[in-house]
Amino acid sequence: MKKLIALVTLSVANLYTSEPQGKTCKIETPPKTLALSQATHADVPIIFTFLKSMWSQTYDWLSPDALNCIFHEWNNIKQFEELVESDNGVLLQLKDETGLHGIATGKLKDKNTLYIGNLYLDQSCQRQKWGTNIIAELKNKLPQAQRLEAIVQMGNKPGEEFFKKHGFTTKAGYPKKFVIEKGNERFDYARVEKNLTD
Ligand SMILES: CC(C)(COP(=O)(O)OP(=O)(O)OC[C@H]1O[C@@H](n2cnc3c(N)ncnc32)[C@H](O)[C@@H]1OP(=O)(O)O)[C@@H](O)C(=O)NCCC(=O)NCCS
Repeated sequence: MKKLIALVTLSVANLYTSEPQGKTCKIETPPKTLALSQATHADVPIIFTFLKSMWSQTYDWLSPDALNCIFHEWNNIKQFEELVESDNGVLLQLKDETGLHGIATGKLKDKNTLYIGNLYLDQSCQRQKWGTNIIAELKNKLPQAQRLEAIVQMGNKPGEEFFKKHGFTTKAGYPKKFVIEKGNERFDYARVEKNLTD
């Protein structure tokens, strides 16, 4: 009987303390299928919410009040709704099955100038050439453009470096001051440009 108890105790102990025998568990995560597409009217509300959240991450030196004030001064949902209906503009979105990861707008300001606005990618998609692909896609969609233009906030190093790397230079007369009425916060910005015909 003693022998039997000892045997049972040993096998139970083995069950719970057995070490892996050089094998590892492999959990397959399906690859994300990130893709750029043109947004529609129905996509606008979620894009606007994403944009606001990207503003607070990107301009984290601003107080919440200042951020709110400038955000609504520079952006409104109607502009996005008009853009998706327009022949002279495009709203791009970068999505996978988990949701939205990036956006950008392109609009022909005049016959020759493509204005690139609201280029924001969340952290999971930064520095993987999506920004570069987005510029190429905007040029594809609006091939009549001979110049590119964008706005960069002073202090946003990733934005400044990105446009510099793509050959944009600061337009004459910039940076400009943007002073928020209440308080002393500032949000200075530069218009940057690139000629496509050189
Ligand atoms: C800035 C932003 C649009 C760039 O897009 P991206 O897909 O990350 O950039 P890419 O991978 O296409 O980079 C192209 C080049 O731009 C420069 N660059 C991009 N991000 C940079 C960063 N954080 N710091 C320094 N240089 C950077 C590099 O020269 C880079 O080339 P490299 O990676 O071979 O060195 C993106 O990182 C982003 O959305 N950031 C947060 C929001 C923001 O700042 N938006 C811009 C508003 S003006």
